[in-house]
Amino acid sequence: MKGMNRREFIKVSLMAGASSLVAARLAAEGVDASAVVEAGAPDVTGGRLIASAPVLQNAAETSIGVSFAVSALASGWVEISKSPDMSGAKRVYSGDCGLMDVNDKVALVRIRGLRPATRYWYRIGADRMEFKRYRPYNLGSETDGKIHSFATLGAENTGSFCVIADSHQRNPALGMMLAKLQELTPAVAIWNGDATGNFNTTIDDALKAFVHVHPDYPEYAADTPFMFVNGNHDFRGLFNRHLQDLMMFREPDERLPRYASLGRNFVQRLGDVALIGLDTGEDKPDAHPFFGGVAKFEPYRHLQTRWLADAIETPAVKTAKFKVAFCHIPLYDANPAHNAGDAIDEGKAAEWHRPCAQMWGPLFEKAGVNLVITGHTHRFRHDPPGDGRTWDHIVCGGCDIWGRGANRKFPTVIEGRVDGGRLVVRVHDLVAKKIALEKTFG
Ligand SMILES: [Fe+2]
Ligand SMILES: [Fe+2]
Repeated sequence: MKGMNRREFIKVSLMAGASSLVAARLAAEGVDASAVVEAGAPDVTGGRLIASAPVLQNAAETSIGVSFAVSALASGWVEISKSPDMSGAKRVYSGDCGLMDVNDKVALVRIRGLRPATRYWYRIGADRMEFKRYRPYNLGSETDGKIHSFATLGAENTGSFCVIADSHQRNPALGMMLAKLQELTPAVAIWNGDATGNFNTTIDDALKAFVHVHPDYPEYAADTPFMFVNGNHDFRGLFNRHLQDLMMFREPDERLPRYASLGRNFVQRLGDVALIGLDTGEDKPDAHPFFGGVAKFEPYRHLQTRWLADAIETPAVKTAKFKVAFCHIPLYDANPAHNAGDAIDEGKAAEWHRPCAQMWGPLFEKAGVNLVITGHTHRFRHDPPGDGRTWDHIVCGGCDIWGRGANRKFPTVIEGRVDGGRLVVRVHDLVAKKIALEKTFG
């Protein structure tokens, strides 16, 4: 809704006299209600509770995640319908069963039980909550009147996928990426890591990185579901150790209990394409002094390897005509002088990740993976198959815009769609406004 005032969409339906209602309830509980109310019941008639557009995340066949910012203590919800007029809408609240989630920064709603490859319409809302002593009180609801839409993934979904990476909260490049996504309207967008710029110390920092991402695109993920893949920068800063409190881990049912900590890995079908998401973790060995002794990415990568070995045996992958894998750090580099992420005495960032390549490469060969899309170096590159590697490797461009000729760095959007039974992958150069690469599979 570029250029539009979000207030136009906000319908505030606060309950009149909510403070007195709280007082009445407290009195019924035997609480000294007058003292509580005099102590400062909030002004429930002013200020918006819903503080952002929804962010769709964790696209899947039968579930979706929705998050949005709130300005005060609240329990968020989503109303979802199979009709654009919202007839028969069901309301889904934040949190699982038992206690629903109440939070003063963000609402996280996980919607389950959806039909694959089906379009849904939805709107968000929140209940303003207040705690007096041990009890929560509902002070009324606010609904964002704007209705958004998305389609679930699945083998019958004929939409496209797009990939962005390394935006690092740099608005010129991120704006180009989001504009291109708006033009291409993919079924799903993979955010292939390093979304974070200035490392997130607090949830307010992270809200800027993942919810209020760009002033011109306040609804960047309201109608396009995103799959977020960690980059090495997305592990840095104190709040990023709890990033799942803002960008949810994927639906737990998607993975076996032994893979519970792999909250961002995914295998999802988009038509004839199996999308496989992996996490390369940080770009240095765990013992590197940079981590202060509190990194355990080596066992994390080994666990990912076991997950991948299982994932490629699933029907979603085995029956797919095309297989495309995503991770942040490149899994190939032809230059033997480049830092391969396994040197303890290396001060520079890794250009690629040899340990992951050695573990995952043979599994990609076994599964017949066609293409691996990475990022991290901020420089678009295509490595055709070779050196015993049967899969193409494409490195996304990122936030850097400089240089000339072969040294030029530019942001990209990678687009993949099945057309006439063949997978066509295009790399859009967002500065030159041309196709930097078109590669067809099948
Ligand atoms: Fe980066
Ligand atoms: Fe990176």
